Amino acid sequence: QTIYLKDYTPPSFEVLSIDLSIQVFDDHTLVHSKLVMQRLTSGDLILCGRDLELLNISLNGNALTPQDYEIDPEQLIIKNAPDQAEFAISVKIHPESNTQLEGLYQAGNLFVTQNEPEGFRKITFFPDRPDILTVFTTRIEADKKYPTLLANGNLVEKGELSDNRHFAVWHDPTKKPSYLFAAVIGDLAVLKDSFTTMEGRHVSLEIYALAQDLPKCHVAMQALKDSMKWDEDVYGRPYDLDNYMIVAVSQFNMGAMENKGLNIFNTVCVLADPEVTTDPAMFYVKSTIAHEYFHNWTGNRITCRDWFQLCLKEGFTVFRDQSFSTTLQSPAVQRIDDVSSLKSVQFAEDAGPLSHPPRPDHFVEINNFYTATVYDKGAEIARMMANLLGPEKFRQGTDEYFRRHDGQAVTVEDLVDSLSDGSGVDLRNFLPWYSQPGTPCVKGRGSYDADAKTYTLTLSQSTAKRHNYPEPQPLPIPVGVALFDKETGEQLTLNSTVLKQSEVAENNIKDGIFVLDQAEQTVVFEQVNAEPVVSLLRNFSAPVLLDFDYSDEDLAFLLEHETNGFNQWQAAQMLLERVLLQDHNPAVYLNAIAKALPQVAKDDALLATRLLDIPSENYLASRIDQEYDPAVVHQKRDAVLNALADRLKDYWADAYQSLPIVEFKDNSVEMGKRAYRNMVLGFAIRAGVEGALDWASEQYDNAVCMTERLGALRHLVWNKANNAQDKLDDFYKRFKHEDLALDQWFAVQAGNPQGSVQVARELMEHPEFDWGTPNRIRSVTGNFSGNPVLVWTTEGMQFYTEIAKRLDQQNPVLGSRILQFLSRWYTLKEPLRSEAKNILQGLKGEVNSTSVCETLNNVL
Ligand code: ARG
Ligand code: ZN
Repeated sequence: QTIYLKDYTPPSFEVLSIDLSIQVFDDHTLVHSKLVMQRLTSGDLILCGRDLELLNISLNGNALTPQDYEIDPEQLIIKNAPDQAEFAISVKIHPESNTQLEGLYQAGNLFVTQNEPEGFRKITFFPDRPDILTVFTTRIEADKKYPTLLANGNLVEKGELSDNRHFAVWHDPTKKPSYLFAAVIGDLAVLKDSFTTMEGRHVSLEIYALAQDLPKCHVAMQALKDSMKWDEDVYGRPYDLDNYMIVAVSQFNMGAMENKGLNIFNTVCVLADPEVTTDPAMFYVKSTIAHEYFHNWTGNRITCRDWFQLCLKEGFTVFRDQSFSTTLQSPAVQRIDDVSSLKSVQFAEDAGPLSHPPRPDHFVEINNFYTATVYDKGAEIARMMANLLGPEKFRQGTDEYFRRHDGQAVTVEDLVDSLSDGSGVDLRNFLPWYSQPGTPCVKGRGSYDADAKTYTLTLSQSTAKRHNYPEPQPLPIPVGVALFDKETGEQLTLNSTVLKQSEVAENNIKDGIFVLDQAEQTVVFEQVNAEPVVSLLRNFSAPVLLDFDYSDEDLAFLLEHETNGFNQWQAAQMLLERVLLQDHNPAVYLNAIAKALPQVAKDDALLATRLLDIPSENYLASRIDQEYDPAVVHQKRDAVLNALADRLKDYWADAYQSLPIVEFKDNSVEMGKRAYRNMVLGFAIRAGVEGALDWASEQYDNAVCMTERLGALRHLVWNKANNAQDKLDDFYKRFKHEDLALDQWFAVQAGNPQGSVQVARELMEHPEFDWGTPNRIRSVTGNFSGNPVLVWTTEGMQFYTEIAKRLDQQNPVLGSRILQFLSRWYTLKEPLRSEAKNILQGLKGEVNSTSVCETLNNVL
């Protein structure tokens, strides 16, 4: 059943308050609720409910019988309900056998909730939609073997009961939608700290985890305090409750969840310790902590009217966490990492059958829309608007947003209206970005007139039309522009006129950003005294593809002369795409990188690792729409890597030797050195530098942190070193009791380009493999997917469809995601293409969940 944005209707009843009582027993849980509802408009009273055993229900003191309501597997409807309706409802649920990880579920010795988007209806009957906000009071009761009893808000009462049981009552003073409700029942240790807000509020900070994991919570705690301070400094947003709790759970479908005052985190997003956590993983912990914290304002205090507006909170919050992360490493590297993931995941998604706008206009299962498009393209839209306004006006705009809408459930239009009115700059022309799918392509050419001293730049935009969507319209595309003197490499000052193409556009180029908002526009730069090279889309000023008539030499020039690392990286990527997708000669790229690299490595080792990025096989595949041959792409990419390795053979050897292992420090300089050391080692091995594999073994043995140990292990395993198995066994023994490290043991083997479907299957038969832990499943399926040559084989495709089928019942949200790996099957060359189609078609009729079925239907 498809749900449409255009069908949105406001609720007919509001909920003034809910009193919830959750009684946990070993083989079932009872949930009693008291709901005080009041009519807003005419219409039926609808309570959502799924997989609930209704024990009794009364309305205004009178027990209801089945004649009094209509009930189906999704909802309970009361026609002609009185305007004031007070319900008492009791249901029985089974968290102990809930494998879907939605609603209340048991994970090991812990009971936790995941209610976004529609999990609360699996806990009790409730109008489970984000535009119904209410005050929650929660009583939790359980056996004393579970000493930890948590819910949102403040603890108001706790006590002992007979039968070795106890209870706690929590009251959350802030109104919130049901998807932000959380409860935790378990036996957890807690790390405590505190933060005093700019308003002088003393907030107690608590991170709950298994006792053995408590030492790994300090990084997250510091990140939380840093985030709280950052949101005050940059957005003027203080925290609003007296406590902030975070709970770590190892079985979790996503990264983390921003439940009001009680975040629930996948362990991989909260636990960090250099011994068991790599630097990128530790970085991810910090940015996820920030992300969930920032939701308190963008998501919780101001939430979404309906789930179509998901990117209102997610896009904006991702933009906020990216901005925060920029304070933790160089802005260039941060931007490279964000853009790199946008291009490899979101562009790929938008180029295939699962393409959708950041604000979709229809869906079957909203769980399928927690996508790169909603999150990351959503963040790019927020970023474009923020960049156009500049920090001061953007702050005026966000201040206005918080002033107008605090406590409300709103839409994307409300955000853009507030930003416009608050800043005095009308940004409403950005709204179509939210509703148009596909990645726009900006094409362009430039020419220099030496006599007139003008440089004329013509840019045009186009977006492929998508089935079921209207003809794409031109969007406002901010194009970052700079001119460089071709002789000297100096940056030139801009002096320009925009030739009018229509009534609409006469924007002069302010601060080096030109807003392309027509199908085609021309800009003339004046007083350009020497022939320039133009740099476009600086800092990735818009989420678009760029196809400019650069010569390879122009791009090499930009790689050398651009003034910031992001733009250098972008030039390198463009050159590489030409080599890899259009068979350009790699010589220009190799010369340019060889020239630029040593200096960059001295200044910023982390940036140097990024400059050495070669676009992934999956990204390259996303740019190929037909006759895709995974083996050919792999071989071309491999050839570039080999050529790069050979070209700088001596450099790799020297660079590796000059980077000794030193004491672990968590800062971006040391992180850069560790990353660069691993990368250089990989190239040294590839180049056949004598002894390089021994260096890897030594690095493995002498490692002081996981980044070093895992980096070395990966090189040994992926290069089939003689001692690879020994080191794998050693790693296993060392980290057998550290789930997140053991995930890496699975990942290294599953992601091995020299591996096979058989290897991946065997990993899934391993005694430590666990179908109940998404992290473990992803460590195999996610890493295996990095090798399209293996995925796009009969066995590879069957491997994924079998997993999707298995998870269809057990955990459909995850099953659906795994199926997404196969979404671009139709681009394959024959006979693989037909085979892929058969295999996918074979899955039809074998799966039942709405999540998996919707994805399968879209993919086929
Ligand atoms: N709101 C969470 C976050 O981005 C994600 C929760 C998504 N959960 C889900 N079942 N799709 O921080
Ligand atoms: Zn989020």
